[in-house]
Amino acid sequence: MKIVQAASELFPYVKTGGLADAVAALSATLAGRGHELVVFLPGYRAVVDHPDAVNAMRTSGLRIEMGDVFMTGEVRSFSPAPRVTVHLICRDEFYDRRHPYGTRERDYDDNHDRFIFFCKGVVETLRFLELRADVVHGHDWQCGLLPLLLRHAEQRHRITLATKTVFTIHNLAFQGVFPMSTFHRTNLPEELTGIDGVEFYGQMSMMKGGILFADRITTVSPQYAREIQTSEFGCGLEGVVASRSEDIVGLVNGIDAHIWNPATDALIPANYTVGNLEGKAACRADLLKKSGFDPKFSGPVFGMVCRLTEQKGVDLVLANAGFFKKHNVRLIVLGTGEKRLESALRELAAETPERVALSNRLDEGMSHLIEAGSDFFVMPSRFEPCGLNQMYSQVYGTIPLVARVGGLADTVVDIDQDPEAGTGVMFSPTEEGLAFGLERALKLFDQKPEFHAVRTRAMGGNFSWAKTVQAYEGLYADAI
Ligand code: ADP
Ligand code: GLC
Repeated sequence: MKIVQAASELFPYVKTGGLADAVAALSATLAGRGHELVVFLPGYRAVVDHPDAVNAMRTSGLRIEMGDVFMTGEVRSFSPAPRVTVHLICRDEFYDRRHPYGTRERDYDDNHDRFIFFCKGVVETLRFLELRADVVHGHDWQCGLLPLLLRHAEQRHRITLATKTVFTIHNLAFQGVFPMSTFHRTNLPEELTGIDGVEFYGQMSMMKGGILFADRITTVSPQYAREIQTSEFGCGLEGVVASRSEDIVGLVNGIDAHIWNPATDALIPANYTVGNLEGKAACRADLLKKSGFDPKFSGPVFGMVCRLTEQKGVDLVLANAGFFKKHNVRLIVLGTGEKRLESALRELAAETPERVALSNRLDEGMSHLIEAGSDFFVMPSRFEPCGLNQMYSQVYGTIPLVARVGGLADTVVDIDQDPEAGTGVMFSPTEEGLAFGLERALKLFDQKPEFHAVRTRAMGGNFSWAKTVQAYEGLYADAI
């Protein structure tokens, strides 16, 4: 099949979260199975400066209608792997910036223009290249208007650009909602500003566009697919999602074993396998040392890597500060995010420097070291569409402590609920829930044979993309 992927992040070029990993692995795996992959990405500064892209071919100039003006840009293209072409939609005014979506203080004021331009750039390039894709697959709100813009262009120019469109919701909490006054930039028909269109409480919701107008919708776990049809998790779009319940399916992301595999990982100081865990002990010592602790510490080490936001339950960890003060354990956190949570964590680390360490930065190497060197991985998310770290943890022999929500519920088995198959500890995403989870972890750590059995099972988990990609292939074929 000729498959187009459009997303605002793609590992290793630009990443703020799991979206980048998921789109990269999905594209690479599909290409590996013989499909032709065309991937669109905004030409952010980090991407155009990447060694893969510096010699990119400048294929075409873009002239995009944005309301009553035309804006220019260009497409730069390169091929990072056989059967994969990446097209960068470039316009320096929009994308030559340090961050994809905004500064730490606030989102950029022109995000509506930036992502309308991106989606229109995708459509224009498909038209120019006469690509005639079997599937155009857009991800998250940044590509929400793509199905609409694509069909509109087809009508306008009497051509076929794609047989079917697919839209994936990676996180319904980010919806791309902008004042309705920005809608004119889309040049879409006025009737789409109504309730059956992109209107959301008087504003324009790009996410809603994707959900209503793509031929098929996916999200990143079966549990999240059910949850987002309820008011608790639907972020106001539960009715819209439920209206497409026939066409929505939850497919759990996999993990890229070339990058996340303790036997071959080049970012950790020693490699290991389930049969020989010596390397894990070396990683643990290194992690403790790098975090300012005694590398010989023998009690439990809790690791955490995430965006520091409420979604990830960082405040629940803070509410359980007493646990880390009371017990002789170590907590090692890597993350950046909301200032309030960063300062509270920094304060906790300053108050308890002998037990709690915070690395307040983006650090790919450290994220691997925490996965490898910890005994437990803490992930008390309030909601989690899929989540990747709980899967990384398992294959690295680090037992996940997770909230029973979304993809976490689909990829971890609780050790009390199923003692024969358990791979982690689950709880409800509340202060008390996490407190209970931490106590259970402590108990498990003291029961060495049991702890080892859980670790061994976790490491044997199969989180490969193969099964998921076959499900996507089935979905594409079925849609067509
Ligand atoms: P989300 O996309 O909601 O942030 P995921 O679990 O899907 O959550 O993916 C998060 C990804 O980002 C993981 O690969 C994780 O290791 C990585 N990550 C998060 N924070 C950092 C950080 N400070 N440094 C390096 N990697 C990070
Ligand atoms: C989003 C979700 C996360 C998911 C990732 C990749 O960022 O928050 O749960 O793993 O997308 O699909």
